[in-house]
Amino acid sequence: MSEKHTLAIIIGSVREGRFGPVVASWVAEQARVHGGFDVEVVDLADVELPLSLPATPPKFAGDSYPRPEAMAPLTSSLAGADAFILVTPEYNHSYPASLKAAIDWHYTHWTAKPVAFASYGGAGGGRHAVLHLENVLTELHAVTIRESLAFPNYFATWQDGQPLDAEAPGYAKALLDQLAWWSAALRPARDATPYPA
Ligand SMILES: Cc1cc2nc3c(=O)[nH]c(=O)nc-3n(C[C@H](O)[C@H](O)[C@H](O)COP(=O)(O)O)c2cc1C
Repeated sequence: MSEKHTLAIIIGSVREGRFGPVVASWVAEQARVHGGFDVEVVDLADVELPLSLPATPPKFAGDSYPRPEAMAPLTSSLAGADAFILVTPEYNHSYPASLKAAIDWHYTHWTAKPVAFASYGGAGGGRHAVLHLENVLTELHAVTIRESLAFPNYFATWQDGQPLDAEAPGYAKALLDQLAWWSAALRPARDATPYPA
């Protein structure tokens, strides 16, 4: 296994004309500059994500969970990731259904792994979405990171693919430092002992 840990940055929105890829690409650039991770951007718009789930929950079906064939690249990216950053907008004070579907089709892929958030939206900067995600990911035995990137009124505060706030790269570094710390702590722990979920 490589020295560097794998970070999957997930674009949560799949809407036509979405802003998500702009945020994800800036976050990916910050992660590359940080240098602590091999970075992969995962776009949920490229994935088949049916709302109808199989009869048995993924928690009990394990690796034999019958996912659509076209979901295999997503499943493989989630399985191979040591850490995640979920890039999420706020839809009606929560996060998009596409992100919930991607989460619900998987289970062990999140277990004992650190997850951080980059959110955007109107005045609240997507914080309602993040509060809901923190709650959901706790159920999946993931570890959510305290530092978070929130971009309020993104339509007025980004230009040419960059946030105008000069402090933003510093906030990203703080988040990535915490994510790297948890990733370094949890990967050997997962390798040494199966998590008692
Ligand atoms: C269905 C829907 C609901 C929305 N609800 C909220 C909301 O509750 N709070 C907010 O700040 N923005 C809300 N917005 C505005 C989004 O934050 C904004 O459209 C953002 O660009 C969505 O991300 P996306 O472009 O990646 O899809 C909503 C947008 C949509 C499409």
